[in-house]
Amino acid sequence: MYKDDFLQKRLTDRSDLNLLRKLPAIHTDWIDFSSNDYLGIATHHLLSDSKELEHGSKGSRLLAGNYSLIEEAEQITATFHQAEAALIFNSGYDANIGLLSCIATRDDTIIYDSLSHASIRDGIRLSLAKSYSFQHNDMDDLKKKISKATGTIYIVTETVFSMDGDECPLKELVETANQYHAHIILDEAHATGVIGNKGEGLAQHLQLHGSIFARVHTFGKACGAHGAVVLGSERLKSFLINFARSFIYTTALPATAVNSIIQSYHLFPCMKEERKRLYEYIQQFQNASLSYQKLTSLSAIQGVVVPGNDAVKELALYLQNNQLDVRPILSPTVPSGSERLRIVLHSFNTQEEVDKLLKLLGNTNLTI
Ligand SMILES: Cc1ncc(COP(=O)(O)O)c(C=O)c1O
Repeated sequence: MYKDDFLQKRLTDRSDLNLLRKLPAIHTDWIDFSSNDYLGIATHHLLSDSKELEHGSKGSRLLAGNYSLIEEAEQITATFHQAEAALIFNSGYDANIGLLSCIATRDDTIIYDSLSHASIRDGIRLSLAKSYSFQHNDMDDLKKKISKATGTIYIVTETVFSMDGDECPLKELVETANQYHAHIILDEAHATGVIGNKGEGLAQHLQLHGSIFARVHTFGKACGAHGAVVLGSERLKSFLINFARSFIYTTALPATAVNSIIQSYHLFPCMKEERKRLYEYIQQFQNASLSYQKLTSLSAIQGVVVPGNDAVKELALYLQNNQLDVRPILSPTVPSGSERLRIVLHSFNTQEEVDKLLKLLGNTNLTI
């Protein structure tokens, strides 16, 4: 059999800390308060295989894998997001590690928000540049870190933070970047399809897209699809085609996946009602009085803080036993003491479902 006994110790260590990850059981009857399908595009099967498309892929984009539908998708996303150019990557993870690992030289500095997603951190770890984190959304700390910076300076942040649901102060970030001649890289993963009149994201919503060096939009959240795009100048696109290893050394997305992206981008502008309903639920959640501390968030991601891994797991289990799909986020993924339920609201949740969730979270009689 496999000679892999040496793997067991680290698994046991994790298990002893009650942190062993397992693929979750599948419950098709649970009410979805967990997926990133904010507008129901995946849940309601709004992406169809209407076209005769080739299944499979033939190679990397730079060899046999380029094809007209993927170039069309780049054109569509660039136009939708008012960017000069767009380059599709196979996932948001690939886009962030590709962009961040290659953009800066060893003489440059990358400064990133301390709550940045793992894909941003991993990209920075692969970079030769110096890097510093700044305290979450803290412009004073950002300026402090900029004062230590050398070479070309990059500021990296997210529109909506994936574990807290709060937004970055984009206007202030742009002002700071302008003041110090820094370049902003903005991950709009959780804003795509949701923020803005047509779902175009925060940068365009605030008319700041012209001041942002690179934007990353992912297709695995509200698009209900897969992949991601880096938006910027034609020169940046050419740079990435030449230096982003997660673009160069991988097989292109298949046409079926790209067709889903195109369909989502056709749907977004028409989904005003869905966005309106989602924002109504967000308001209702923020206004509700719960037995636990809520994080302030104007996004679909709502955090309910339940300190302690055991306590948060127990509350999640209680909700799951009531058919609500709510997942606990444990330390060390979030700092110890701020363990939380990560609740995701969707336009397709019914009023009764949201009321049930709030009622259970407001029930102070729980012995948890
Ligand atoms: C902020 C952020 N960026 C990037 C990613 C990675 O995107 P993908 O799932 O397409 O790899 C995620 C996904 O969790 C995310 O939350």
